[in-house]
Amino acid sequence: MRITVIGAGYVGLVTGVCLADFGHSVDVIDIDASRIERLKAGHSPIFEPGIERLITHNLESGRLAFSMDLESSVHAASVVFIAVSTPSSDTGESDLRYLFTAVDQVAAILSQHPSETPTILVVKSTVPVGTCTSVRTRLLNAGIGEDRCIVVSNPEFLREGNAIGDCLNPERVVIGAESAVAFDRMKSLYHPYVAREIPFVEVSLAAAEHIKYASNAFLAVKISFINELALLCEKTHTDVLEVARGMGLDARIGPSFLMPGPGFGGSCFPKDIRALEAVGQKNGVELKLLGAVDLINKRQKRHVVNQVLTRLSGISAPIVAVLGLAFKANTDDMRDAPALDILPALIANGAMIQAYDLVAADNARPLLGEHVRYCSSAMAAAADADVLLILTEWNEFYDIDLMALKSQMRTPTIVDTRRVIDPKSATRAGFNYYGIGRA
Ligand code: UDX
Ligand code: UDX
Repeated sequence: MRITVIGAGYVGLVTGVCLADFGHSVDVIDIDASRIERLKAGHSPIFEPGIERLITHNLESGRLAFSMDLESSVHAASVVFIAVSTPSSDTGESDLRYLFTAVDQVAAILSQHPSETPTILVVKSTVPVGTCTSVRTRLLNAGIGEDRCIVVSNPEFLREGNAIGDCLNPERVVIGAESAVAFDRMKSLYHPYVAREIPFVEVSLAAAEHIKYASNAFLAVKISFINELALLCEKTHTDVLEVARGMGLDARIGPSFLMPGPGFGGSCFPKDIRALEAVGQKNGVELKLLGAVDLINKRQKRHVVNQVLTRLSGISAPIVAVLGLAFKANTDDMRDAPALDILPALIANGAMIQAYDLVAADNARPLLGEHVRYCSSAMAAAADADVLLILTEWNEFYDIDLMALKSQMRTPTIVDTRRVIDPKSATRAGFNYYGIGRA
């Protein structure tokens, strides 16, 4: 099949590359010229394990192309994916302007180039319930009926850092559509999933839109539950992970997403919760649980700040070494990273920051301003520091040389929000150690 993917961001790029790997002929289109030039040369604009190999392989095979020329691509395509960003607006609602611009552009191209079979227009971007129906109405108003273009909702469940694996081997594929033709076409598009008997969830457009938000909101609830419990466990001298393990073995609860941390971040959870709350408000239903999740997540970040500040008390011109800036490991993404709240709060309280992240420093620099000194290693960041604050669970932090670390620091104190350091080893090495939710 010939496919157009509009938007070469995290989602569009991963989707396009994987569809090319399935044997389709894929054009990934973006309005950002420098991004397209980099991609044409085989370089990924994002850090995502495995992506450059797949880009190069599929460019060489001729199945994958990057371009800014939407018209000739859509003209030839039987399936068009929209994967542009849908950021939060000031009210928390999803800002759908890029999505609707893309829809209008596709409508204009389809009016110019009639085809015999209807084009499938797949909304991959995360959009609130009712958006796909608005997309259908917009197409109809532009003179494009169902005989020319069929709208499908096909939300993504790609975890950054694991996005290629999630795309090649998903746990389920959610397809929202209002016609049997659409379900059939999506199944031929995703033939490797069918062959591997990966479950397809065929539902209405509205249900598919809801499934995406509900899934992310539920995962955020789980994380917030364990983060809140972690605070209680600290007071009651209990290890929250022992509790989580005991809970998670109950199949009704499940073990995943019960890891306490500095609060969730990323391009999805914080924005999706706000967007779902806004949908609730619009429909006269206050989603109280999501309001609580948002508050718990903010409190978690404040808790981390307080833990550091308590340990800096009485130290003049204190220095905090920060290990990890990205919102989680294996990504360079800084969108809504806890570091963006925690570091400014520490700076406002007089701390100097020396930070190290394997890949996220370039993205962090414009967001965190001049008050952060970026270092090329964990040891360099620890030089003369009074607290070592771990914010991201990068693999290399798990077996850091504690004795070497201690010899670098002015005051040997660790605040570990990802529980990457073994507390006994830290204490043996002479550290004052705090780990979130530990006994
Ligand atoms: C995706 C989804 O699409 C979003 O709805 C979801 O909630 C999170 O994941 P993401 O891929 O992370 O967004 O967005 P981003 O990395 O910002 O990429 C969007 C791309 O679309 C950018 O490369 C941008 O240049 C491009 N774009 C944007 C267009 O090509 N056309 C536009 O009109 C707007
Ligand atoms: C999420 C969804 O999981 C994915 O399906 C898609 O919809 C995009 O959004 P992503 O944001 O890439 O993926 O990362 P995820 O692994 O879900 O983690 C989100 C945040 O929660 C991170 O800040 C992470 O550190 C945090 N988290 C996750 C915890 O604090 N504890 C956990 O147990 C799991």
